[in-house]
Amino acid sequence: MSELLPTAPYRGTRDFLPADYSVREQVFHRLYEVIESFGYQRYDGPILESAEIYEAKSGRELADQQLYTLVDRGGRRLALRPEMTPSVARMIAGHAGELTFPARWYTNVNCHRYERPQRGRLREHWQINVDVFGTESAQAEIELVELVHAMFAALGASTDMWRLRINDRVLLESMLVDLVKVAPEQVKPVSKLIDRWEKLPADRLAEDAAGLGLSDGQFERLGSALRSGLALLDELPAEAKARSTLVPVLEQVPELVSYDPLIVRGLDYYTGTVFEIFDTDPANPRALFGGGRYADLAGLFTTQKIPGIGFACGDVTLPDFLATHGLLPAAAPEVDAAVLPLAGDLFGPARSVAAGLRAAGLRTTVSLEQRKLGKELTRVARAGALVAVLVGAEDWARGEVTVRDLGGRDQVTVPVAEAGPAAARIVRAGRGIGSAGRGIGSTAGAG
Ligand code: HAM
Repeated sequence: MSELLPTAPYRGTRDFLPADYSVREQVFHRLYEVIESFGYQRYDGPILESAEIYEAKSGRELADQQLYTLVDRGGRRLALRPEMTPSVARMIAGHAGELTFPARWYTNVNCHRYERPQRGRLREHWQINVDVFGTESAQAEIELVELVHAMFAALGASTDMWRLRINDRVLLESMLVDLVKVAPEQVKPVSKLIDRWEKLPADRLAEDAAGLGLSDGQFERLGSALRSGLALLDELPAEAKARSTLVPVLEQVPELVSYDPLIVRGLDYYTGTVFEIFDTDPANPRALFGGGRYADLAGLFTTQKIPGIGFACGDVTLPDFLATHGLLPAAAPEVDAAVLPLAGDLFGPARSVAAGLRAAGLRTTVSLEQRKLGKELTRVARAGALVAVLVGAEDWARGEVTVRDLGGRDQVTVPVAEAGPAAARIVRAGRGIGSAGRGIGSTAGAG
């Protein structure tokens, strides 16, 4: 006999069984509602792209170590998208003539990165991407910060649960060149070192800085600049601050952001504001959201200059955050109502009764097999049904059915036409809502 294949999914990917899927979708839908309330429109694109679009500007780590690449039968080098920003820049560039700017776009896509799976990091994750194209105004930064705040609020998270750490590559470069006196060609490698600052021990940082040609004095100046927080802004030249879109953010929504010179971000295409959002609970050290401003990623595809700014929030760290703070929704029930034919020749009538229940807004199943009534009632109650409609031969002959409340166990016999409204009343009362319908999700306590 041949060996059985494993049932586990590929390492670093997840199966979503209906209960997991329900939780995930409830979180996503709350976020979609908020994003759409700010006027963002949803788009989508292919999971396969030319590998080149990531190799050009996403950064070496992503391009060399994390890309899933393949060669198609025509010999073209393709990649599974590791992120969405190069794809959306391609779409915007390709359709710039037809679009009205600023364009506010969002999507939710699965991305693949060849990473070592660990808490907060997998090989496949979903990302809600939110981007604005065609504006250099700092009002776009402010809008996105306010949107992030509204997204967290919609999930029940208060501002003490998360922190948006923000920097600007314009200010970062000025700090390195004007204060630390780093040579222009060393700005990028030293920025990469800052990106690892919180992860490396001090002696290793000093060693790496020396390896990049920084003197002891420069290394000290760099360390003290990185620790100085908002006071650093006073030391930077006015000319750099005038070019920064971060300064207005710090002035206009100071309660929602923390200026942090340690935020660099790994992706090369960012040219201005860069930010990441973290859980304030140390149980979840990895970023929940990441984003920034990119003056010219569209320049890979067009000579027209189309600036963009946006962020993505991942579906691996976000549920960890929600679970830690007791905000993860409970899985929503699969069904509201079940119709049970009490004899083998009543499947047809049962299906027509079910149609009436669905018209009344109830998610309704019809039994597929004739089983003992008690067993079937237990099964449908376990699937989440709050009401069962029993179709028996004698009732049916009189044009009636029996509507049974599976919680209270009361039952009434009603004319067939009344079954839908009667069942809907029981479901509404059972779910504690004003109207029965789809997407009903209750919020549980601790997750
Ligand atoms: P990123 O920081 O690489 O940015 O990813 C954004 C978010 O996706 C992260 O904060 C994290 O929640 C999630 N994420 C990323 N990689 C993984 C992984 N391997 N496992 C689990 N979650 C992950 C970008 O991708 C940019 N393209 C975002 C952007 C949009 N910038 C401008 N617009």
